[in-house]
Amino acid sequence: MTRSTPGRPWWRGGVCYQVYVRSFADSNGDGTGDLPGVTARLPHLASLGVDAVWLTPFYPSPMVDGGYDIVDHRDVDPLFGSLADLDALVAEAHRLGLRVVCDLVPNHTSDRHPWFRAALAAPPSSAARRRYVFHPVDKDHPDRPPNDWRSAFGGSAWRRVPSPDGGPDEWYLHLFSPEQPDLNWDDPQVPAEYADIVRWWLDRGVDGLRIDMAHALFKHPDLVDAGAGQHTEFRRNHLMPFFDQAPLHTLYRQWRAMVDAMPGERALIGEVCLFDADRQARYVRPDELHQAFTFELLECDWSAPALRDTIGRTLEAYRRVGALPAWVLNSHDAVRTLTRYGGGERGLRRARAAALLMLALPGAAYVYQGEELGLPQVDLPDEALRDPLWERSGRTLRGRDGSRVPIPWTVDDGTYGFSPDGADPPWLPQPDGWGALSVQRQTADPESTLALYRSAIRLRRALSDGAADELTWWDTGSDVLAFRRGDGFGCAVNVGDRAAPLTGVDRVLLASAPVPPACRSLLLPPDAAVWFVPA
Ligand code: NOJ
Repeated sequence: MTRSTPGRPWWRGGVCYQVYVRSFADSNGDGTGDLPGVTARLPHLASLGVDAVWLTPFYPSPMVDGGYDIVDHRDVDPLFGSLADLDALVAEAHRLGLRVVCDLVPNHTSDRHPWFRAALAAPPSSAARRRYVFHPVDKDHPDRPPNDWRSAFGGSAWRRVPSPDGGPDEWYLHLFSPEQPDLNWDDPQVPAEYADIVRWWLDRGVDGLRIDMAHALFKHPDLVDAGAGQHTEFRRNHLMPFFDQAPLHTLYRQWRAMVDAMPGERALIGEVCLFDADRQARYVRPDELHQAFTFELLECDWSAPALRDTIGRTLEAYRRVGALPAWVLNSHDAVRTLTRYGGGERGLRRARAAALLMLALPGAAYVYQGEELGLPQVDLPDEALRDPLWERSGRTLRGRDGSRVPIPWTVDDGTYGFSPDGADPPWLPQPDGWGALSVQRQTADPESTLALYRSAIRLRRALSDGAADELTWWDTGSDVLAFRRGDGFGCAVNVGDRAAPLTGVDRVLLASAPVPPACRSLLLPPDAAVWFVPA
């Protein structure tokens, strides 16, 4: 049975584990992870102590963008199993006390979606075309797209298509690959369809939906130019005419009312990618989304002033609307922390310290599969790359496959427990020696990163029950970032490259690296974090 604390829904302070289904566990030996594979491995998540699991898209899809190009929003791709497999997964998760969140992709569909096929078969200005963002070709400049919008995967965000009746060509918008046409949220059929999809999944028993590109959907009505920095300078996202448009808030208010009327603690979780803390917080006002991913930590440098400023500003913006952040350090779209922080031993030390920092902060936290194993980004050979970014950037950007490599469960060779014996090779190759980082190996080692995550998530639950959502900074005047949760436990992180003294410590509760015993003060090693009882 899933846990429920009166007045404190799971989505306010819980830990959610992100499963990238393709790369988690392969039950049938075809080299791709699937839903029965996830079900079989749920005990790993239960032993980690997380509250919820988010499954990335498993819907019928040509898999141009890893399943974020959906053909049918109410079914399961045979590659991943069946609806019955999903039901079994949800039932088993609930039995283990885990909630299940599925992905909802409302900004675009696959170009094979029946709606888009109908649009291409219909003439300009037809009702079928109005469900997407079509635009007439300028007769004087037939090769000039309607504006300067860029696709996140490279090139113009517009593709020209012929009219089936021999009439003039039209452009259609795709903020991602051309195989992912953007929907027109100003057409009433689109919100009506998605309201139905949301209800359909929640009625089926899932506990929440993670809304892909939740800050997109509506586009500026005049399709004005976006200028420089599109999809690269994320801090300017809120200024882009294809993001953060006012009607989103009306939409999310409608969805919130619908979802809150359902029994249980259901949640709408927005992939809101705005780095203006106040603009971001607007999405989690009390009558809008339950959570919005807070990517601030993921984008922040390993520096005490930068981290203090980022965390402080974010908490304050959320506090003003009565919400808490949902912190993220890793995802299937980002370079893994260990590599981001410099790789090797130092990268690992920092990744472990960052985990204790994130898990000590007020709010919810997301853990991406393999993060609890301290996996590095994998450097894959060119021929293995599958991310559309690789080809569409003219092979200049390697893309996100390096954080999507199937994870190691066992020490043995072969697929390290990802697939059964005799299976096809995994869809992305696993590096040699991957088994040294496996769940099996790390379970046997009390100093492992897995052991650290297990301890931290369990302790966090016990500590958070008593600690307030307020955070008070301690002025250490050094490279040590330190704070206290209400009048509860403290957390200190040394982001400098020298050991630093920390005073006012009664007892260390958990440390990311060996620390000498504390007697009111302790010497915190570089790139290390501790949780402690203040003196
Ligand atoms: C965000 C998803 O996390 C990413 O993987 C995907 O490529 C884009 N949205 C487009 O759906």
